[in-house]
Amino acid sequence: MPAIDVLYLAPTYPPEMRQYVRGLSEVGVRVFGVGDTPKHALPPDVARHLFAYLEVPRLLDEAAVLRASTEWLRGRHIDRVLTNWEPLVLLAARMRDRWGVPGMSEDVARGFRDKELMKSRVAAAGLRVPRAHRCLTVTRVREAAEELGYPLIVKPIAGAGSADTYRVDDAAALERVIRAVGHVPEVSVEEFIDGREFTFDTVCIEGRPVFENVAEYLPRPLVARSIESLSPVIITVRDHSQPHLAAGLTLGRQVLDALKMHDGFTHMEWFLTSSQEAVFGEIGARPGGAHLVDQMNFTCDIDLFREWARAVCWHAFEAPTTRKYNAAIVFKRAVGQGRIHALEGLDGFRQRAGHWLVADQLLRPGAPRRNWKHTLISDGFVIVRHPDWDEAKRLAFHAAHDIMLRAG
Ligand SMILES: Nc1ncnc2c1ncn2[C@@H]1O[C@H](COP(=O)(O)OP(=O)(O)OP(=O)(O)O)[C@@H](O)[C@H]1O
Ligand SMILES: [Mg+2]
Repeated sequence: MPAIDVLYLAPTYPPEMRQYVRGLSEVGVRVFGVGDTPKHALPPDVARHLFAYLEVPRLLDEAAVLRASTEWLRGRHIDRVLTNWEPLVLLAARMRDRWGVPGMSEDVARGFRDKELMKSRVAAAGLRVPRAHRCLTVTRVREAAEELGYPLIVKPIAGAGSADTYRVDDAAALERVIRAVGHVPEVSVEEFIDGREFTFDTVCIEGRPVFENVAEYLPRPLVARSIESLSPVIITVRDHSQPHLAAGLTLGRQVLDALKMHDGFTHMEWFLTSSQEAVFGEIGARPGGAHLVDQMNFTCDIDLFREWARAVCWHAFEAPTTRKYNAAIVFKRAVGQGRIHALEGLDGFRQRAGHWLVADQLLRPGAPRRNWKHTLISDGFVIVRHPDWDEAKRLAFHAAHDIMLRAG
């Protein structure tokens, strides 16, 4: 086989990126890493999988990274430019366009990054998206609310992590939200879609999913991000043939076509209304965060870090796609502020869950609390899995209620 040379942006951060670098090297390609970690500080588990490394001062300074990378490569032929970190998806596409490298172009990548463009492309394909208005002024926000009616959603155009996203139930609440989002230059005012919320995740080869996953958020992310005292749960759904998922799976595949997906991961969010209608939420041309890839691996007992690499580099996917488990992640938030001083209920939960408990990354006493608003992972998590949906859910909610971290 001919050699394949891959430029990979951000090989060390976020931490799971190291796994993709490992996957790339395991499928036999040479990885040229570009990152802002000093070369001498590269973790050994990354360094040993890199063929070469370029250290740049600021990875998010697109022009500088493009310039430095171009100079570094000195015209060397590169077969792929890849990243799995959302803020660099556009830069990777620009590099491909600039250097004539196959893969997703900048125009296509923008459809996965700009939420309004995304929705207009999805809607243009005849697919159901929330009715929405893009608003630059307070007057426009009020007009949009008038037109759409309540409840509605106000959120930033370029949002992530549900920051500055609000459900608004009446005109008085709208005025409060207008004040709260005063610092956001442009907001989207949307029809509120009631119902359940799911993901549709894929690994694609030339736009065709070779791996698909649906997961359910319990509760919906906006609720999970608003109430500190609850433990958010996300469960991958083992059985995709259930009738209530059919509309979402079809919608997901149609969205990939509408946005002209190429190779790699996608992570979509969708709503299922009480009338069983599937409504598009948003999509990224990258894997879901917060350990969703680990959950998918636990669902099928596979290694998607490596299979993604095989898909994007060799256009092959060799892992079995038989879904064996519903895999649930349970994120915990400590009670109190400061340092964790107690972890209660874990031993009992271990006994209850037995070998269905497959991961425990809860913070331990002595560790400082993390900011639950900034990271869904919060003060750590457990992953449980079970072939039976009800049992997986029951175990997950036991973890949510029985395990308690205390801080202060
Ligand atoms: N039109 C809508 N109707 C109902 N709920 C919505 C709507 N838009 C957003 N939400 C809620 O707000 C959450 C965050 O919105 P969205 O996913 O668009 O933003 P985000 O900031 O990219 O979030 P994240 O990074 O957490 O995925 C959604 O998961 C959903 O719970
Ligand atoms: Mg979202």
